[in-house]
Amino acid sequence: MSTIIMSGCATGIGAATRKALEAAGNKIIGIDIRDAEVIADLSTAEGRKMAIDEALKLTAGSLDGVVLCAGLGTQVKPCSKTTSVNYFGAVELLDAFFPELKKGHQPAAVVISSVASAHLSWEKNPLAAAFEAGDEAKAGAIVDAAGDQGGNLAYAGSKNALTVAVRKRTAAWGEAGVRLNTIAPGATETPLLQAGLKDPRYSESIAKFVPPLGRRAEPSEMASVIAFLMSPAAAYVHGAQIVVDGGIDAVMRPTSF
Ligand code: NAI
Repeated sequence: MSTIIMSGCATGIGAATRKALEAAGNKIIGIDIRDAEVIADLSTAEGRKMAIDEALKLTAGSLDGVVLCAGLGTQVKPCSKTTSVNYFGAVELLDAFFPELKKGHQPAAVVISSVASAHLSWEKNPLAAAFEAGDEAKAGAIVDAAGDQGGNLAYAGSKNALTVAVRKRTAAWGEAGVRLNTIAPGATETPLLQAGLKDPRYSESIAKFVPPLGRRAEPSEMASVIAFLMSPAAAYVHGAQIVVDGGIDAVMRPTSF
């Protein structure tokens, strides 16, 4: 049995992933704002520190995997909450758990990014410098000052930076024997998507976002890919972003990959 720390396990993709990983015989230590072993708010530095300390205590010195699902969508106000949870709520946990993961059995981590990570490039990401400097206040101030564009910028900008942060860790994590990958889901039927659909600012663009497969994904269809990436069957998959979007990225950007 492997011990895996998960964030965002209460609902949606995280809840489905927890179920899949438990069915495969893993022990899960969940971090979430509700329904988890560790109740913590990942939008604040204090919440993240508490989450890290408490989750590590519960591992009792044995950690083999990390899956980071916690995230907020475009509709959340203030937008700075989205940059805090989506970027700092993932990157700070990854870095804090790395030393323990190095000692684990066939250790691996998966971070949930998004197809939105490719909606802007790192070179044109207005948040890149603030994220790279670890300047949470500055990243938050940029999106909070962006008016109507703040929600999309916070979401796509934080997911773009999250995928970059994972890719930049590929060398060090690989040398330490810890596999690290992201998945980039497309529209998936979860509370986050439903909240976006209910917001008149985003409902039309989300509704139009229909992939070639003709339907949105179920959370279990993300969970099965995450469970594969966490398993020994994915032993040579490292530093990859697996797009799980029903084909929409290939349609939107056929020449970029
Ligand atoms: P969800 O809303 O069902 O799940 C998000 C989870 O994060 C929940 O368990 C929630 O309680 C937790 N969470 C939110 N704020 C938190 C905070 N401040 N501290 C601790 N935990 C917090 O949404 P979903 O869709 O399952 O999202 C999971 C991940 O998948 C997110 O990172 C999201 O950005 C990503 N994603 C979702 C897509 C979709 O269409 N549903 C598409 C692409 C990416």
